[in-house]
Amino acid sequence: MNRNTTHKITICTSCRHKGRTCRPSYELIDRLRLAVSAVGDAISEDFEISGTACMAGCDRPCTVAYHSTRKASYLFGDINPDDDIADLLEFARQYALLHDGWCSSVDRPGKLRSTTLARIPATIMAVEDTLERAS
Ligand code: FES
Repeated sequence: MNRNTTHKITICTSCRHKGRTCRPSYELIDRLRLAVSAVGDAISEDFEISGTACMAGCDRPCTVAYHSTRKASYLFGDINPDDDIADLLEFARQYALLHDGWCSSVDRPGKLRSTTLARIPATIMAVEDTLERAS
């Protein structure tokens, strides 16, 4: 893990393709890591790409989350490692440039316009308020 990473892409490693027994998420992690490293500096921020357990999007496998400090978080479903690497890569490029991470569905690339399961506002204000009250 790069200690300087400021953005994270998290992929559910429990997801299975509908009607099949394979677990494509490890393949998705490998392909996305290769794609991000291949474009190098074309993505302005570092991305840590890792797996996690179920993200509660089980009816829409695979699920992929984008998150970063002070930015909105996204959860996408119906992601296929064979077809969707280009869209995921393009959204990484876009997400890195967004000040607060907020964008509307029409601004997201390709399939990600219609497969967003959640867009969650940044929560840093709540954390800062809690820390302020505790001190
Ligand atoms: S098993 Fe992947 S979101 Fe639940």
